[in-house]
Amino acid sequence: MEVKPVFTPHPVENTIFIFRSLSGKGLKTFGHFADLTDLSLLKKMITSDQTAPGISAELFESVKENYLVELNLKKVDVGGGMIHGNASDFIKDKTAKILLAHISGDFTDGQKQIGSGAPFGMTDILIPSHHEFTRSSAYIYLKSYFPNISHHFIEMLLNNPIVNINPESIIIKNGEIPEHVYLVLTGNIEMLNQSSGIKNILSAGALIGDYLAFEEAPAEATFRAMSFSQMLKIPLEFYREFILKNNLKVEIRELNRRRRIFNRTGIFADGISSKIQNKIAQAIEIIECEGTQCAASSKDSPGLYLLVSGRARIMLENDIIENLEPGGFWGETRLLYNMNELFKIKLLEPSVIYFAPREILTDIPIIYWKIREVYERRMKTMLNPDFVSKSIFKWYEDYKVGIAEIDEQHKKLIVMADILYKNIITNKNKTVILNSLKFLLDYTNHHFSNEEIIMGNKKYPELDKHKKLHVQLIEQISMFELKFEKNNFEIIDDFIDLLKEWIIGHILTEDRKFSAYLKR
Ligand SMILES: [Fe+2]
Ligand SMILES: [Fe+2]
Repeated sequence: MEVKPVFTPHPVENTIFIFRSLSGKGLKTFGHFADLTDLSLLKKMITSDQTAPGISAELFESVKENYLVELNLKKVDVGGGMIHGNASDFIKDKTAKILLAHISGDFTDGQKQIGSGAPFGMTDILIPSHHEFTRSSAYIYLKSYFPNISHHFIEMLLNNPIVNINPESIIIKNGEIPEHVYLVLTGNIEMLNQSSGIKNILSAGALIGDYLAFEEAPAEATFRAMSFSQMLKIPLEFYREFILKNNLKVEIRELNRRRRIFNRTGIFADGISSKIQNKIAQAIEIIECEGTQCAASSKDSPGLYLLVSGRARIMLENDIIENLEPGGFWGETRLLYNMNELFKIKLLEPSVIYFAPREILTDIPIIYWKIREVYERRMKTMLNPDFVSKSIFKWYEDYKVGIAEIDEQHKKLIVMADILYKNIITNKNKTVILNSLKFLLDYTNHHFSNEEIIMGNKKYPELDKHKKLHVQLIEQISMFELKFEKNNFEIIDDFIDLLKEWIIGHILTEDRKFSAYLKR
């Protein structure tokens, strides 16, 4: 299959994609027109002034032409506005079938005459395939649950029928003892547990009702199809036999327990497929902690520490950066940057921790995304005077890069930043503030060039990127300096944010990356 990206001006996200493939009846084409802009809005942005923000008339015409390209099938997001298209822009489109999507209410009569509806899970077949995709994915999913089981046993499970389920159908009801285990092959399933308030969306690869094969208890949740779905339907007795024959009862029961715990957390539930959950569940190490004493061999390894039970605190010396409940985690700094953790963890009661080693998380971008959010949130907290008792411009030994010259200069920068910060918050006059700012800026220039020389000597591969960050910081600071000189002190809060980023944020994240490089 060939894929053609088509540029569209869009303020946030992606672009149009056209896919085509050869069939017995020639080329068949499909256009995925998501995240496009309503043409009437785009038209208002036309300007002939090349220096002004906006687009040229030529660009507008080419976008319009791209929208109307004739295809076999086109899916168009018609939510309207800047980030979704408008159905009326496609009135003259000669595409054989247009699907209108990304709209929450009912279609208007006008929209109904332009395109068809597209409920989730609906399929249009352009080129019939004779591949057995569902069965081969069923095999892959089952293999992720039972990695050490021989091929012919997995094939036995695959002898069961694949059934089609309609949207909004209940598959297993809370409290009932089901007769089948279901392996989701396509579509999404809602898991609703009213008593605990837990609600999860399960996608392809999820096994439903499997734990009932050993727990011999009624279902704890209701499972309901959210879309057209296909499932491998395995009789519960058959599944139970399979588990017992392969001597998997203890192992599968434990994996199941871990996955159910994952489903109560943000980090390992939302957007994480069952296949990935299985991979993590198989790799975790359980750390049991009595009071503040934990028995674990890998306590100091890089990885993610998930609090499963108990309570803990993230501390910066004596300050509480965050209170952790089950589902909370730490280990973000080493995972992201291979740098020492700044915070200490204080366990408040006997706790159980799941440790997921770094190797197992490396290829899971969504987990890294969530870890990065937590890292940034904790950085913000530690630089927020409402949360920390000491000055936010304070040197900690953990800030060390490991090169004495750089560390000495960083210490000085922090002292100077503290003076400037205090001058600002105690409302010193303009001259005092400007003088301490100039002093800090001069020393920063000196430090940045010094640091770049040292990084160059050590053949730091990220040097060019790092230099750009230095330039950007100096530019931003100079802009503020100019405004202060013109007596504009209204932007002082923004300046304090920049000061934190310039002195602490940059040292903590960017300069310490160099330190991690030196230690590698
Ligand atoms: Fe630095
Ligand atoms: Fe730096």
